[in-house]
Amino acid sequence: MRIAVFGAGGSVGSRTVAEAAARGHKVLAIARKRLAGLPGNAETRIGDVTDTAAVERLSGEADVVISAVRPPQGLEHQQAAATKTLLDGVAPTGTRLLIVGGAATLRVPDTGGLVMDDPRYVQAPWRAIAAAGAEQHEVCRGEKRVDWVYVSPSANLVPGERTGRYRIGGDELLTDEQGDSRISVEDLAVALIDEAESPRHHRTRFTVAAA
Ligand SMILES: NC(=O)c1ccc[n+]([C@@H]2O[C@H](COP(=O)([O-])OP(=O)(O)OC[C@H]3O[C@@H](n4cnc5c(N)ncnc54)[C@H](OP(=O)(O)O)[C@@H]3O)[C@@H](O)[C@H]2O)c1
Repeated sequence: MRIAVFGAGGSVGSRTVAEAAARGHKVLAIARKRLAGLPGNAETRIGDVTDTAAVERLSGEADVVISAVRPPQGLEHQQAAATKTLLDGVAPTGTRLLIVGGAATLRVPDTGGLVMDDPRYVQAPWRAIAAAGAEQHEVCRGEKRVDWVYVSPSANLVPGERTGRYRIGGDELLTDEQGDSRISVEDLAVALIDEAESPRHHRTRFTVAAA
């Protein structure tokens, strides 16, 4: 498959590029600056999700687009607008879109409240990106043109091991017996490429946690 990854230089994006390339896909690794050191079947491309024309051109070259974009600290409020321009660019191409978003709007199993309002999962430094993720999710929920999927990681998304195993859920936060909600970035990338290869979700959200 041809898989385009926006935010390809970031934590999630770079691991998603690596996972897709390791499976033999042709990868367009899209970033705002040219990337070096990519696997052989990945090409670096320049692209900003706020540039609708560029998104359309690049998405037109792909079978699936994956967006793993996060504004710099202090500019989190730009996430929803950037998601709108991304959707506007992808829409005319008919290409499927997987958006890596946040855990903010998942429901906490023991309280029924939102993750973003629960200090066990979202501490002060992450409130701005959690709020941005909630707005981003709302933008997706209103999207009727694009075949999109919003992927919510667990509350803790940390670089770690690629086990190749994970659990999938819907709108409820997945936790372990201790109430911990965790997924490695590597296993999130596995789940993303599995979904790209074998679509199971359409215009909905799913969440991923460690197995
Ligand atoms: N537990 C959770 O729910 C959780 C935890 C972590 C992350 N996330 C989500 O996962 C997604 C990816 O996060 P991450 O941790 O991989 O972030 P990251 O490491 O900060 O990487 C984000 C990437 O987005 C790029 N970017 C920013 N604005 C862009 C734009 N307008 N157009 C194109 N690229 C742009 C950045 O490129 P530059 O270098 O050019 O700025 C950077 O490479 C985000 O939606 C984030 O909120 C969720």
